[in-house]
Amino acid sequence: MTEPTQTIPEPAKPYYAHHIFFCLNERKNGEASCSQHNAQAGFDRCKQQVRAAGLAGVGQVRVNKAGCLDRCAAGPVAVVYPEGVWYSYVDEHDIDEIVESHLKNGKVVERLVTPAHLGR
Ligand code: FES
Repeated sequence: MTEPTQTIPEPAKPYYAHHIFFCLNERKNGEASCSQHNAQAGFDRCKQQVRAAGLAGVGQVRVNKAGCLDRCAAGPVAVVYPEGVWYSYVDEHDIDEIVESHLKNGKVVERLVTPAHLGR
């Protein structure tokens, strides 16, 4: 007698090709947080550029706010799923490069990838 085989279903096609979350956390106790490093401006720029490039929507790109992602020492940070690529950015030029290279063309911006050892 043979055992029934269990099959793992194929992963569903992601609802968004790329889903990017920006930490916008703000702390009032003096501890470092992404909001102290222009995270809101980075988020706003990303939303604007994604829309301008015609990338926004189902099957394409979604830009979302997030609370603390627990990598504050690397802030400001954003993470792209489903790839799980983390970025530490500085200014709008960095955001533009993430949009053009990663979100539009699927190529990771290596120079902005958050160093693996940086957490909270
Ligand atoms: S405050 Fe942004 S990762 Fe923690």
